[in-house]
Amino acid sequence: MKRISYLDMVKTLLSESDFSSFVSTYTKPITKSIKILNSQGGQATIARLSADGWNLIPPRFSRKGNVYDDVLFVEKTGRESLGSHTLHQEGKFYVQEMAAGMAAQVLYASDGKSQPRGQLVLDLCAAPGGKSIQLADLNCDSVIISNEPDPHRRKALEANLERCGIINTLVTWYDGRQLGDLLFEQCDKVLLDAPCSGEGMQYKKEFTVYQRNEKKVKKLAHLQRELFISAFKALKVGWELVYSTCTTNIIENEENVAYFLQEFAGSLELLPVEIEEKSCWLLGDDTIDGKVARFRPHVHHTGGFFIAKFRKTASLCQYQVSRAWTPSKSLWTAFRRVSPPDFLNTLHFDGWISEETIVAWIEERYLFLASKHTLRITIPAVIPFLDQLYLQRVGLPIAKILQDGSLKPIVANLPKIRLWTGK
Ligand SMILES: C[S@@+](CC[C@H](N)C(=O)[O-])C[C@H]1O[C@@H](n2cnc3c(N)ncnc32)[C@H](O)[C@@H]1O
Repeated sequence: MKRISYLDMVKTLLSESDFSSFVSTYTKPITKSIKILNSQGGQATIARLSADGWNLIPPRFSRKGNVYDDVLFVEKTGRESLGSHTLHQEGKFYVQEMAAGMAAQVLYASDGKSQPRGQLVLDLCAAPGGKSIQLADLNCDSVIISNEPDPHRRKALEANLERCGIINTLVTWYDGRQLGDLLFEQCDKVLLDAPCSGEGMQYKKEFTVYQRNEKKVKKLAHLQRELFISAFKALKVGWELVYSTCTTNIIENEENVAYFLQEFAGSLELLPVEIEEKSCWLLGDDTIDGKVARFRPHVHHTGGFFIAKFRKTASLCQYQVSRAWTPSKSLWTAFRRVSPPDFLNTLHFDGWISEETIVAWIEERYLFLASKHTLRITIPAVIPFLDQLYLQRVGLPIAKILQDGSLKPIVANLPKIRLWTGK
């Protein structure tokens, strides 16, 4: 197979002047940016960071004159890293690359259609969790299923959700190709932030993203197609899916979009990603080119990133029957379903918690789950999914339950609710 270098590939897609500006920028560090958590006192966080001399600047990305301002660029003096700030450790903000932070905002950007409360949102490839945190924070009434099969990355996902005090997520660990069948046409929104070659992230200076390997790219493109089929199966008719990658090559991006449109012709519509400042390649294909969004280091001061948005216009019943994905035997063993406890029959606390039982009760607008040692908080909208999927983590652990039944808080900022005292 003929191998072409990363820059040779980019050269075919940009004008001469654009290309030389790209070359001078693509390995340089990009401007840092953060996502401030609205659910953790957003305005107070902004005031405290400003008092510390941090200058928070919205990007130049807009939609119908409104700036996408959920992620902000940071200018600051001093050499301490963003992650070492106390407000970061307290989960008041998350360090989020600007272009990556656009995917969740684009998924939620509505075209005027009224959005029901309590949506089910699937984040199919979720670790380390930046986009799940954003999806959960932007829409506190919704249930976010954050799926991640890699155990090491899932640990990082769980730690990040916990640090940021996110209560409306369920963490699962399926191979993403299975979830389309398990959640067939149940999800109002799906984010497929796919595993990719990372071409476009050269500023990270990691060998894996610096070294172009076309064979690997093609293998990844195949996995992305299988994941898209699953993501699209999980999506309800009439609702939206965002496909994103942090890569700049057209095999994983535009060619995949063309494949999705062909594979699901008649039930899939490509929607315009409404970002007025997005970039184009010189592909000369208007059906895809004008609608998807690309981000470039030399134009937008971000890493390379790609976003496409779709709507499901018809059910996939036929497809579901004919193309159900059959996982290998080893996967079935790894992901075999474990029966969850019978939450629905224990929706009130009866004063005794045994080794295995989990009791649950609803107070105000929260759902509490108590096992022998841990009290967790989440939202009642998760209930239908508690016995539908094998769950790695439900909501947010907020207190240890001590032997005498009293509670020892394990998060600094408990939500403002009356807490059951254990007596
Ligand atoms: C680009 S990263 C996701 C980043 C994440 N959305 C965020 O914002 O933090 C892609 C993730 O897909 C996961 N992945 C790889 N193969 C997968 C599969 N078959 N099903 C689901 N996820 C997979 C990887 O482990 C990786 O964590």
